[in-house]
Amino acid sequence: MNNFIFQNPTRLIFGRGMISELPKQIPADCRLMITFGGGSVKKNGVYDQITKALEGRDYVEFWGIEPNPRIETLRKAIELGKKEGVNFLLAVGGGSVVDGTKLISAGLLYDGDPWELVLSGRNTNTVPLGAVLTLPATGSEMNSGAVISREETKEKFAFYSNYPRFSILDPTVTYSLPPFQIACGIADTFVHVMEQYMTTPGQSRIMDRWSEGILQTLIDIAPRIQENKEDYDLMCDFMLSATMGLNGFVALGVTQDWATHMIGHELTAIHGLTHGATLAIVHPGLMRTMIEQKEAKLAQYGQRVWGINEGSTRQRALKAIDRTEEFFRSLGLATRLEEANIPDETIYEIERRFNHRNVKFGEMQNITGTVAREILINCK
Ligand code: NZQ
Ligand code: ZN
Repeated sequence: MNNFIFQNPTRLIFGRGMISELPKQIPADCRLMITFGGGSVKKNGVYDQITKALEGRDYVEFWGIEPNPRIETLRKAIELGKKEGVNFLLAVGGGSVVDGTKLISAGLLYDGDPWELVLSGRNTNTVPLGAVLTLPATGSEMNSGAVISREETKEKFAFYSNYPRFSILDPTVTYSLPPFQIACGIADTFVHVMEQYMTTPGQSRIMDRWSEGILQTLIDIAPRIQENKEDYDLMCDFMLSATMGLNGFVALGVTQDWATHMIGHELTAIHGLTHGATLAIVHPGLMRTMIEQKEAKLAQYGQRVWGINEGSTRQRALKAIDRTEEFFRSLGLATRLEEANIPDETIYEIERRFNHRNVKFGEMQNITGTVAREILINCK
């Protein structure tokens, strides 16, 4: 196990009816701005719960943070927030609203163009932020990351700021999610764990078991959620799996990969594909391409998560990849580029972008533009 320093300061407020906790979490004398997505919260009662909880308080609302939040929209939110003297933010929505609001939280204290913050990669000079999460997937409610898109140039980059001060997770607000978003949320959570687990074997027994526990939970609940997405206990397990999958707890002292995500972000940037859907396409192809390096860990994963005990290490590793792809398909997601109408030119464009940026992703830092091309060819 490698050395590490770990601190996760987000207060997690979990369970039915917990939106009513809001007034205790937001200082009465702050200048508050509440940020929203495209309006799902007006249909499922979340907006009503927020206004009721904050009755008597004065605040500004900003609507319209879209999926894969765009800098073009966030600039407007920052302008409004500056004009109103905002010094506390509440994000109400999925990962996109939370991510976008993280950039706003830094942008409010920055004089230049906020895209410079994204390109700088990190800025922790922020106003405080809280969240009411409506979609389990990204872990953004309990991490410091955000992914911001720029429509104009078809770019999408990760940015790090501060953790939310608090996040409210009421699983009943997820009942209104469309099945496709649930499928993408499960795939996203699954791949988050894999990015931190499917790396170097033998680094940490405790991290391995923790990751395998989340993966097994997802495999167990996915078909049941498809049957009934209004089962409270199932949605509790889904929501907590998503948070635990990307709040740092499964990454302590171990190497990480993240190449599936980096390639997936390009597919979203170029073609607008939903985040979780890109991962279901890229991840099996990545594992097939990197089998030499990942073989031992794949065999461990196959045995412990999928119960694959027969055959050589290579055969078990290959079977584990097949089972993973079948799992994504069982969610109703495409797992091949053609199914999503991604042309070959995109493969070469991603190779070109990665080579231009001189990237080196993966736990061995050996996934370059050329390797990304090989991975994408294996996703056809
Ligand atoms: O905008 P509204 O109307 O609210 O509708 C949203 C949106 O259309 C809808 N939705 C959310 N909650 C709902 C609901 N519809 C009905 N009922 C509810 N309870 O779902 C749609 C998708 O929402 P979005 O926030 O885009 O989804 P998600 O949470 O998957 O976030 C995706 C974004 O997060 C980034 C992705 O790249 C993508 O931009 N990620 C952020 C990460 C992080 N901060 O650590 C890590 C991830 O790997 C990921 O990259
Ligand atoms: Zn993700």
